[in-house]
Amino acid sequence: MTEATLLLAWYDRHRRHLPWRSAPGHPADPYAVWLSEIMLQQTTVQAVKAYFELFLARWPRVEDLAAASSDDIMRAWAGLGYYSRARNLHACAKFVAGEHGGRFPDTEEGLRALPGIGPYTAAAIAAIAFGRRAVVVDGNIERVVTRLFAIEEPLPRAKPTIRAATDRLTPDLRAGDFAQAMMDLGATICTPRRPACALCPLNVGCVACREVRQEAFPMKAPKAERPLRAGAAFFLRRGDGAVLVRTRPPRGLLGGMTEIPGSEWHADFDPAQATDSAPLAAAWLRLPGTVEHVFTHFALRLTVFAALAEAGENVAPDGYRFVADKDLDSEALPAVMRKIVAHARAQT
Ligand code: ADE
Repeated sequence: MTEATLLLAWYDRHRRHLPWRSAPGHPADPYAVWLSEIMLQQTTVQAVKAYFELFLARWPRVEDLAAASSDDIMRAWAGLGYYSRARNLHACAKFVAGEHGGRFPDTEEGLRALPGIGPYTAAAIAAIAFGRRAVVVDGNIERVVTRLFAIEEPLPRAKPTIRAATDRLTPDLRAGDFAQAMMDLGATICTPRRPACALCPLNVGCVACREVRQEAFPMKAPKAERPLRAGAAFFLRRGDGAVLVRTRPPRGLLGGMTEIPGSEWHADFDPAQATDSAPLAAAWLRLPGTVEHVFTHFALRLTVFAALAEAGENVAPDGYRFVADKDLDSEALPAVMRKIVAHARAQT
């Protein structure tokens, strides 16, 4: 029996029941598959489930999402991270609704022409939603395949080798189930640490398992350390409890999201000089402790300053706005900004 046959038989018994998956034998809804694949980029299944269900309940068809305001989409996305995904999501929905009559293209090539859809996502949607034979490789699949064949080359250099090996394994029929079976295997059995090889449908042919070197794969080139940046955040309350915020510029890190005003983030930030970059003059009080957050390319440490607006300063400075405390949680606040709010609320 081929690896694909063994794996599909395992999948039919042990597949994870995830809200975007159709029942066996039923075609998956391309809109739901697309939405789930965008959400699952760099994000765990566990974190995605609730967001996926919320989006689908609120915007059941691609036309509904296309007609939504970007502000509503950014708010609903808040907390999932990598916010350019949400901007591309909206652009893609508008494109599919406007230029394709609400139907997603059914080939990898057609899908790749859409905003926010790269080679991985195009292959995943083509296979899962349209039953195309496409070669799907994500992080879980990289681990399974490098172990199966004991691929000694380190990532990222090994990518073409892994892709070629996955191509050889991929069946002509049920390529979407095959891809998702590989993902499930990687998530539940072929785990990074202490894989459960006794339960694995592919254990007989697995070189890493035979050599008891599972955890050596995938090999990785040594990573550069994540640099540390630091800065200040300014938590200003008005007499009625409203908090000063602003919207970040549309492009770049956390683009279009709401933020607590702050300084720039630098390696050589000096907290003693920080209030020079405050949005307005006030009796800024430095709160004890710091807020820490890890982004892909740097770690961030923020010192939080709190103040009450002077009686005469009920109008926000240019580019800023006040939000009532009860409305703050439904703003498009990314995780780092929620940490600042929690830190300030606990101490003011
Ligand atoms: N990660 C990315 N796509 C996935 C899917 N369809 N099922 C499970 N995990 C995934």
